[in-house]
This record gives sequence, C-alpha cells and structure tokens, in this order.
Amino acid sequence: MATLASTRPLDVLADFPAIPEGWAYLDTAATAQKPRPVIDAITRGYAETYATVHRGVYQRSADMTLAFEASRRRVAQFLNAPSPDEIVFVRGATEAINLVAHSWGNGLKSGDRILLSTLEHHSNIVPWQLLRDRTGIAIDVAPLTVDGKIDLDAVEAMLTPRHKLVALAHVSNVLGSILDARRAADLAHAVGAKLLLDGCQAVPRLAVDVQALDCDFYAFSGHKLYGPTGIGVLWARHEILDAMPPYHGGGAMIDRVTFEKTTYAPPPARFEAGTPHVVGVIGLHAAIDYVDSIGLDAIHAHETALVRATREALHGINSLRLFGPEDSAGIVSFAVEGVHPHDIGTILDEEQVAIRAGHHCAQPLMDHLGVPATARASFGVYNGEQDVAALVRGLERVARIFG
Ligand SMILES: Cc1ncc(COP(=O)(O)O)c(C=O)c1O
Repeated sequence: MATLASTRPLDVLADFPAIPEGWAYLDTAATAQKPRPVIDAITRGYAETYATVHRGVYQRSADMTLAFEASRRRVAQFLNAPSPDEIVFVRGATEAINLVAHSWGNGLKSGDRILLSTLEHHSNIVPWQLLRDRTGIAIDVAPLTVDGKIDLDAVEAMLTPRHKLVALAHVSNVLGSILDARRAADLAHAVGAKLLLDGCQAVPRLAVDVQALDCDFYAFSGHKLYGPTGIGVLWARHEILDAMPPYHGGGAMIDRVTFEKTTYAPPPARFEAGTPHVVGVIGLHAAIDYVDSIGLDAIHAHETALVRATREALHGINSLRLFGPEDSAGIVSFAVEGVHPHDIGTILDEEQVAIRAGHHCAQPLMDHLGVPATARASFGVYNGEQDVAALVRGLERVARIFG
C-alpha cells in the first residue's frame, strides 16, 4: 500500500467520541462525525445560553443574538464572502437550492434554459425540474469526461444566450471529481448566465473563496462540515439576493404586515422566515473554527493521500471496478463484478468498516456508469492508513466469499 508519509497525519481521532477504536468510518460524504468542540458548543447552547434570537428584549436573548450573528460573520469569512448579509441560514444544501429555484427561478420563463451536469445530486436536479414544470424552461445536461469530471469543453459548446443559470457540483458526491469552478463561472458569465455551485462535498475538503471562484450562488450543508444537521448556508451576491422575492412567509422576514399589504425585510432576514435553528447556527460556528484549526489545505492533502493509497490498493483486487478520476477529492466509488454493493457494505460492516452502498442520490450518474449502485468509501479528518487497510482487508474477504 502507498504510504502516507508524504503528509502530516492529522491525528485528530481522539476529538471524535462517536468513533470507537477499531471502527473505520468511511461515510463522511453522507455525513461527518462531530468533534468534541462542536458537541460542546451545542450542549452549551442548550444547557447554558439558550434563548431565541432577534426578538427578546432580555439580556439572554440579546447575547444569543450576538452569538448567532457572529456565526453569520464567521461563515462569510470562511467563504470569503464580501458581506455577512449575503449569508442566508437554511436547513441544508437541499433547501438552499430549492430557495434559489423558487425565488430567483420563478423569474424565468418559457424559452429560458438552465444547464446541469450528469453527475449532479438529486438536490441539484429535482428543484430545477419542478421549476421547469412551473415555468416551461428547458434543462440541458452537460456530459462527463472519460474519467468522470464535468466536461467544460462540452459546457462551452452547449451554452447559449438563452441559458440563465449553470448549476454544478463543486465536488461530486460519488466520484469526488473537482470542478474547475472558475472556468465554469467564466463560461456561464460569457453568455450572461449565473453560476450556482453545490458546495456540499467541497467545503469539508477544499478552501472555498466565492470571490475568487466568481460564482453567483454557493450552497452547502453544515452536517458534512463536521457541524450539526438541520443547518446549512446559501450564499449569493448581494445584488442578486436583494432582487429576489421571499421564499417562505412568516415571522422575522417582514418589514410591516397589514392585511392589505406586507413589505419584506432586506436580505438575509427576508429568506429566514420563522424561528431559526439557533443552536445549529452556533454549532456551525464551532465546526468552522474546528476545520480552520486543522486547515483546509492540510485536510485536502491528507484526504488526497488517502484516496491515492486506496485507489492503488483497490487496483490490485480482481474484478473490482474503480470509478472517478485519480485525483478525486476524498471519495472513492467502486463496484465488484457479480456482487451487489449492498452485499459489499454488509460484509464490510462485519469487518467494522462503514461505507455507503446505493445510488447516492445520483441516479442519472448511475445510469451513465451502467450500474444500479456503487459502493463508496469517503474520508474525513479522522481517517488514516489503518482505515484504508481495514477497507482493503474487507474487500479481499468479499472477493474470497464471492469467488
Ligand atoms: C453533492 C451534494 N449535494 C447536495 C446534497 C444534499 O445535502 P443535504 O441532504 O444535506 O441537504 C448532498 C448530500 O449528500 C451532496 O452530497
């Protein structure tokens, strides 16, 4: 097996109380385990400092509001967004994309087109199909290169002035392919379209700078970034957000309500109707601090080395087919001829190795690959050589069982 000596081991396993010794957790692309500082921040948020935000006249609520808004500033800094007012707290990437499809997307009309790619997660497909049903827009689908990256040459050839939006995964949740997001932005902008990046798998693995990427919308989920579930982020350029109508109506998103007419708050409040996930926002702040304390460059280098070691080892197993590019970010999908991925997952579970088996909410990609499902190992900061070794041992057992 390739050695990881070229990278500094992150050595943070002890920060993760829910990972027992000897358990190889290789399903971080589904959801990341939580480090102690995040768990502590959530516990403190409920056990010591809990109150609602933005409404209370008492000190506790004012303090919680300060902490809540400090998290928004931290997210803006994390993405290098020009202003915290461009950060909208949502439940996750799914809600972020649905918000854009409803609010911004409802301004599209029949004849307009949007462009997606073959490898998108259902969260970046179905909201646009629902929009198509509402407005009569058309959806185009960009193909992939042979090694499983979004083919930007094809994107360039497909784009026309009728395209209003290009919506692509920054990192594929199945193949780990990294998009050249800056080029995608340049291509979209050259025809007057906006670029939405689904950053779910990118934010835990790559340093993201929305200004350098020059994208228009960026969406991610907190739980994949070592933070709590139920909290996510939509970033959009101020002028775009400012022109967008509300998505949900309710408390906190208004300026003045009468039965005749209601006026709305400016962004981001306009898009945060109802009592927010206060403690989720606090936990997200702790998660970003945690990830930054390790450093995304170090995380990326570490996961790249784990992927390299895994792919090298799996190349040696007969009848195992590897998907995705060699330089995948932290994610390795594979199939073993004649063995259903669920059986692979079950046998690996007996070996204390947790992987994901299924279509990974990317059925069009499965169709493209010609398989109903894949097995997927995905890495996080807590993984090391021992987890790759356990995976390989388990897969050798799969090969023995199935001959
Ligand atoms: C690339 C990608 N996009 C979107 C999502 C949806 O994220 P969530 O279910 O947290 O909203 C996921 C989750 O698996 C993902 O991997």
